[in-house]
Amino acid sequence: MTTPTIELKPSSTPLSDAEREAILAGPGFGRHFTDHMVTIKWTEGRGWHDGQLVPYGPLSLDPATNVLHYAQEIFEGLKAYRQPDGGVATFRPEMNAKRFQASARRLAMPELPVETFIEACDLLVQQDKAWVPAHGGEESLYLRPFMIATEVGLGVKPANEYLFIVIASPAGAYFAGGVKPVSIWLSEDRVRAVPGGMGDAKTGGNYAASLLAQAEASAHGCDQVAYLDAVEHKWVEELGGMNLYFVYGDKIVTPELTGSLLAGVTRDSLLTVARDLGFESVEGRVSIDQWQADTENGTLTEVFACGTAAVITPVGTVKRAGGEWQQSAGEPGKVTLKLREALLDIQRGTTEDKHGWMHPL
Ligand code: COI
Repeated sequence: MTTPTIELKPSSTPLSDAEREAILAGPGFGRHFTDHMVTIKWTEGRGWHDGQLVPYGPLSLDPATNVLHYAQEIFEGLKAYRQPDGGVATFRPEMNAKRFQASARRLAMPELPVETFIEACDLLVQQDKAWVPAHGGEESLYLRPFMIATEVGLGVKPANEYLFIVIASPAGAYFAGGVKPVSIWLSEDRVRAVPGGMGDAKTGGNYAASLLAQAEASAHGCDQVAYLDAVEHKWVEELGGMNLYFVYGDKIVTPELTGSLLAGVTRDSLLTVARDLGFESVEGRVSIDQWQADTENGTLTEVFACGTAAVITPVGTVKRAGGEWQQSAGEPGKVTLKLREALLDIQRGTTEDKHGWMHPL
């Protein structure tokens, strides 16, 4: 694997301090973008080349560009946090870099070296450091590395040219209500991914596949859709864009990685954070009937969703065809909030980073 150098060509017209501060006062999620982006090309026979940090701006693509037709695309999501000393650190970028490589293998794309992925993110955050929100709040700078097939042509085959890009977006809460519980619609007929499919790759197609079920969730008055496994239509897998955790008193359980769900970085971190706090944390299987029955008999005390964008978001109302129930009386559960604070304390640099997860710039 070649490791390209990244040339700096910064913007001569970045947004003014006043305009940037106005955005940072209420960034929302994924609506505003910083002044720069990093781009790196890959060409068959040449490898990675032409790494550049350039002003953020539109791409020009031929209408026959491969990705527009056959969706050979992968992406990642990670965050940079302002630290108490004013510095900035990203959270577990190496894990994102490795998952990006795994997604690339699944979609027959070239693997970007881990160090190049991290360097590209570092350079963008360093250049646009003023965009990292203030220390201590809910806000952070969300990084979105992605790769698209750029060969022009309509043949269905792995492309011979690709473009890797990193963009950055200041982010507040993913859900408009912040840490207010979200409602879940259980989709019992639509599935997100099948065994042997692409469920464990972070590729746009999985998110496109979730949109109709997500619209059905909205039609049932719910914020998110939860999927069951595609074979038995019984085992809870994940939500449209985040993983799930079930809290049984002092034991937390997350659906095991069967190949059809995404190995979330937050999901993985919480298995460890929970253990550090004295909880038992395991990967296992929870059926939809068990979810409902264990809530009704009081053993399943809380449920929460987790992901880089969503951090940890409590689940409130759950609806399925012919049934509806509430987790923790519709309030954020105590364990959910404790885990959320413990993880955010590491990310914001207000507690010891004993697992070496933070990557200071
Ligand atoms: C993330 O959490 O980073 C994701 O990519 C999920 C998406 C729903 C924003």
